[in-house]
Amino acid sequence: MVAERLDGKACAAEVESSLVPRIMALKSKGVEPHLAVIIVGEDPASKVYVTAKQTGCERLGIKSTKYSLPADVGKEELITLIQTLNADINVHGILIQSPLPSVMDEIGLTELVEPNKDVDGFHPHNLGRLVQGRTDGLLPCTPSGIIRMLEWAGVKLAGARAVVIGRSRIVGIPLSLMLAARGYDATVSIVHSKTEDIDSICRDADVLVAAVGRPGLVKADWVKQGAVVIDVGVNRVLDSNKEKGWSLAGDVDPGVSENASLLSPVPGGVGPMTIAMLMTNTVFAAEQY
Ligand code: GUN
Repeated sequence: MVAERLDGKACAAEVESSLVPRIMALKSKGVEPHLAVIIVGEDPASKVYVTAKQTGCERLGIKSTKYSLPADVGKEELITLIQTLNADINVHGILIQSPLPSVMDEIGLTELVEPNKDVDGFHPHNLGRLVQGRTDGLLPCTPSGIIRMLEWAGVKLAGARAVVIGRSRIVGIPLSLMLAARGYDATVSIVHSKTEDIDSICRDADVLVAAVGRPGLVKADWVKQGAVVIDVGVNRVLDSNKEKGWSLAGDVDPGVSENASLLSPVPGGVGPMTIAMLMTNTVFAAEQY
């Protein structure tokens, strides 16, 4: 078997097209959807992600404003900025790009964002709703993008065995909750760095999601014949064949293609879906305002 490519870029384009009439309807009522993006420090990967988010906004006619702050910005200044954006009736979505510099209390700062403007779905209010099984609110973008892409490809989730590798706040945990929620109905296992016999648990999966940031971790013999494999990893690896000296690698070894039926590529899989779902959340937040 050679896996078919799960084309996140094509799915994201469809999701984004479906937002166009909603954005037009908002504008006809005098509302211009507006996303505020806060980035702190000089992390090169974060800068690339933020540019991609702003380009997504431009593509769709969503206004975006970037607030770039130095890594040594004071806590008070950051808090004041979040409070100002919370109070601004012309701002519908607020996103704090993760990771913040390690000295900062990222979770505490995220908690200051008004839940109705929390287009990342990271606020305890929105994550708490998800824990209650309510999937109709602002949900984290990468997990909701993965689910949307699986549905788009016609992958059956109800009753399927899903294994999520990684227990991050941004992907692993919310994705596991969503997959297990009523309406999606998968049987979910979460595996992580302390899990024993990780490969045999993964071999049981009908749907396997790798979200740990370890290049090539998932090998072909971790994957059951015909499984659907989602690669969330975006890792920079040294590559002397490239002018810039590095290339992108996922968490999934390319050899997995021999066993999987569907495999999401890196780049062009989960990344564009994350952007499309951020656009969706921003439009949703503007509609609810
Ligand atoms: N860093 C990596 N993924 C994300 C995301 O979805 N949102 C934010 N804010 N930061 C991230």
